[in-house]
Amino acid sequence: MRQICIQWAMLCCIAFFNISPVHAQKFENLAQTPPMGWNSWNKFACDGINEKVIMEVADAMVASGMQQAGYQYIVIDDCWQVSRDSAGHILADPVKFPHGIKALADYIHSRGLKFGIYTCAGTKTCAGRPASLGYEYEDARQYAAWGVDYLKEDWCNTLQGQNAQSSYTLMRNALYQAGRPIVFSLCEWGSNKPWQWAQDVGHLWRSCGDIGNQWSYMEAGNGSAYGGSVLGNLDLQNGLEKYAGPGHWNDPDMLEVGNGVLTTEEEKSHFSLWCMLAAPLMAGNDLRSMSAATKSILTNKNLIAIDQDALGRQGYRVEIKEDFEVFVKPLQGGDTAVCLFNRGDQEKKLDVDWKTYHIAAGHSIRDLWKDAAAGTTASPFRGTIGRHQVIVLRLSH
Ligand code: GLA
Repeated sequence: MRQICIQWAMLCCIAFFNISPVHAQKFENLAQTPPMGWNSWNKFACDGINEKVIMEVADAMVASGMQQAGYQYIVIDDCWQVSRDSAGHILADPVKFPHGIKALADYIHSRGLKFGIYTCAGTKTCAGRPASLGYEYEDARQYAAWGVDYLKEDWCNTLQGQNAQSSYTLMRNALYQAGRPIVFSLCEWGSNKPWQWAQDVGHLWRSCGDIGNQWSYMEAGNGSAYGGSVLGNLDLQNGLEKYAGPGHWNDPDMLEVGNGVLTTEEEKSHFSLWCMLAAPLMAGNDLRSMSAATKSILTNKNLIAIDQDALGRQGYRVEIKEDFEVFVKPLQGGDTAVCLFNRGDQEKKLDVDWKTYHIAAGHSIRDLWKDAAAGTTASPFRGTIGRHQVIVLRLSH
């Protein structure tokens, strides 16, 4: 009788597992700190990409010390794809990627890096290339077979009324079923408040529109200001800090450091503020020809340690007075990162009284860009801060 019961229980189990759909979830234990890598879009956009460029950028990531500093994903953005075959398989541009995507992924892996790719949840990508709507399972299988490690999914050309949460959940499920752990990056620009629902769907989500290669707000045609800049995207992160943590990050968009428009001080500020926000650090410049200044910003170990801190807290603004701002980011082990930021056009005198920010007297201070000790919190922090400049401090017990 006991034997029969055991056999019956086993049969029930088998039947249950066979008829149940595969348990759907996102891949856990990925992106426990904000992803670091490079994406082709900001510099190369649609026309500039091809396999030679991507391979050379991968080589440069290794040779420049970026890989050693923590950057690992090489992500091809829009325009690698041209059509589908009669069976529905997505086809890469045969002129720009003559050896195919698998060969490129293999090359990137051979350099000790990880490989990312781009698609879109609509009928076409933002640049009008074939996208994944209706092909989610097919595409996810293909990405897994190619060795993709990171997928960015955009939100252009979606159908009227298409639901973002269900669309991204569908791709999440398809990726999970395909079986290869892939970091899933949602790119619906914050339109449907993904911070409220995407924690179990993806590992990062865009929390604003596209960054522009400029410091400040762009004037829209009607004269009103909108995002699309370092400051614009920064401001849109206010209040989102409570939604970020290990495995699920707000994404204020890729870096414009090294793209020839921002001054060196602005590049340092952009990079520092993204580190304070625990933002994904996706370089967007041409790594093959970056200046020594750009390289030293992108590889600054002190700042990267703030971004990659294991506690995974997103920093937040605690002061905004005229053009002077203060951001705070709690760190693992009780340290605190503080970023003083002058977004205005004039140099300012600093007189930071730590009590204002409820910071006790007993901390030693390290200036992270100077890489030098800078007193203690027993007395106010005094000095000057230039236009568009940051001073980033690490306070320790
Ligand atoms: C959208 C995204 C960008 C980039 C382009 C590609 O604008 O937000 O990051 O991927 O599409 O076409």
